[in-house]
Amino acid sequence: MPTLQYSSVLFKCLLVLHILTIAVRSEVISAKLKESLEKKSVANITITFKTRPSEALNRVASKIKTITNRGTILEILSDELERDALKSQKTTLGLLQSGKTTPKFLSLWLTNQISVQGASIDLVNKIASLDEVSRVEECRTFVLYTEKDSVKFEEYEGRAELPIALIPPGYGVSRTQADEVWKLGYDGSGIVVGIIDSGVRLTHDVLRETYVGTDNYGWFDPDQLSKYPYDIMIYEGHGTACIGPAVASNGIGIAPAAKWMACKVVDADKVWHQDWIIACLQFMLCPTDHQGNNKNCSKAPHVINNSWYYPAGEDDAVLREITPVLVASQINFVFCAGNQGPGCGTVAPPGSYKEFIAVGGADFKDILTPSSGWGPGEGGMIKPDVIAAGKYVPIAHVSSDYAYSTESGTSLASPQVAGVIALMLQKNPTLTPPEINKILRNTAINNVTLNNQDECGGVPVDKIPNHQIGYGYVNALNAVNAVTALH
Ligand SMILES: *[C@@H]1O[C@H](CO)[C@@H](O)[C@H](O)[C@H]1NC(C)=O
Ligand SMILES: *[C@@H]1O[C@H](CO)[C@@H](O)[C@H](O)[C@H]1NC(C)=O
Ligand SMILES: *[C@@H]1O[C@H](CO)[C@@H](O)[C@H](O)[C@H]1NC(C)=O
Ligand SMILES: *[C@@H]1O[C@H](CO)[C@@H](O)[C@H](O)[C@H]1NC(C)=O
Repeated sequence: MPTLQYSSVLFKCLLVLHILTIAVRSEVISAKLKESLEKKSVANITITFKTRPSEALNRVASKIKTITNRGTILEILSDELERDALKSQKTTLGLLQSGKTTPKFLSLWLTNQISVQGASIDLVNKIASLDEVSRVEECRTFVLYTEKDSVKFEEYEGRAELPIALIPPGYGVSRTQADEVWKLGYDGSGIVVGIIDSGVRLTHDVLRETYVGTDNYGWFDPDQLSKYPYDIMIYEGHGTACIGPAVASNGIGIAPAAKWMACKVVDADKVWHQDWIIACLQFMLCPTDHQGNNKNCSKAPHVINNSWYYPAGEDDAVLREITPVLVASQINFVFCAGNQGPGCGTVAPPGSYKEFIAVGGADFKDILTPSSGWGPGEGGMIKPDVIAAGKYVPIAHVSSDYAYSTESGTSLASPQVAGVIALMLQKNPTLTPPEINKILRNTAINNVTLNNQDECGGVPVDKIPNHQIGYGYVNALNAVNAVTALH
């Protein structure tokens, strides 16, 4: 019956249109989310509240300046942020829990946001109408090693086919002269390195002994709330590979006696989730048990190697916004320069920020790798800051507890700098991140060869620092020698 059919279709359309008009009229809902909801009627969303983290930070800023105990600083800071978040999120959390089924959600105090999986149009409209909500948009996800990158930099990125025998023994460790530092009695003991990546193969022979332990708040998986660290095979064990150059034993890591803790931000399809990144940053600022409860800020790591960056063109506003909070935490954040070079300004945020150290990569002949990101960074600042081994770096491989391999990319270079920082902190735990960054820059060695003479930001490439290699190759021996021992 054509007429009947027609009217029922019309009826449905009217219904949908009616619901959608409310959504469309709300300027709180992003255009992209509206578009997705028109197609699918459910979406994964991020809700941002009007009260911003800077307000909590401003209230406690002068108080935390007078405190030297880092655990106490982190507690004051996170309590204040959490208080603001709970207040603004109360009604929304109630809405989420009022239906027949509660959708999966993450409440985040660091950014004062909530992410919700599978939110309906109806729920989105209700939330968008709340006075305390400033924005509702789709959850941000990104793929870091894109198809385009791996084709373009086939020769340099991804797993290397080079036989391990060709690599100089202890390459990475020997290039930074970390082995010389061990002889001075500094191997990272007492220092905790945090890893935000795809996970870690806990049982690997060179990693299992230095895990801080699940009872000691060493692992958080914001998606699955799993109890013990694990890594995803599909991603070539990115986290397991990258943690090695920082803390693995057996001549792989720069600070083999440092302990590690980890947090997972990559799903089984290699997709990085912004809400998990924020959840992991929170976990590192003030660790919790594996279910996200009972926080204890004095278990925060001293150094965090961050395995993620914002790919070119991605909006990094949220991250920029919380950077003052990360700086106030007094934790050392290390980032890679990214693999988006060559070319001026290819250094990826947040490594491009003035507050953080960005690390580029060189091959084993000390030639800058072509894909290592270049400066200038934010405000014309010199970037990268330093260089470390970034091609055919020896790693622990995820495939078994005794598997080793080599891997390439600036992802392998930054954990080495995290390792060097662990050695410096063992000598003097009172060093602040700006003091450490200054020493790293001033003690780097200018022996990295460029393969491109392009000048960026008016800084000649024959000058040090420049926007391709920064201050040069990071040197653990020089850096530790420049640190005044506490005792
Ligand atoms: C929402 O996120 C989940 C988990 O990451 C994913 O499986 C699902 O496909 C996403 N849904 C939409 C509509 O994007
Ligand atoms: C650069 O310096 C490091 C540390 O002294 C050294 O191991 C390496 O061989 C040097 N590279 C070149 C090309 O001279
Ligand atoms: C918090 O962690 C520290 C360091 O591990 C520990 O000494 C302290 O007892 C813990 N506090 C609580 C309340 O569990
Ligand atoms: C260290 O950070 C870089 C990027 O900043 C990342 O690619 C690498 O995977 C990280 N390693 C670990 C173990 O987190």
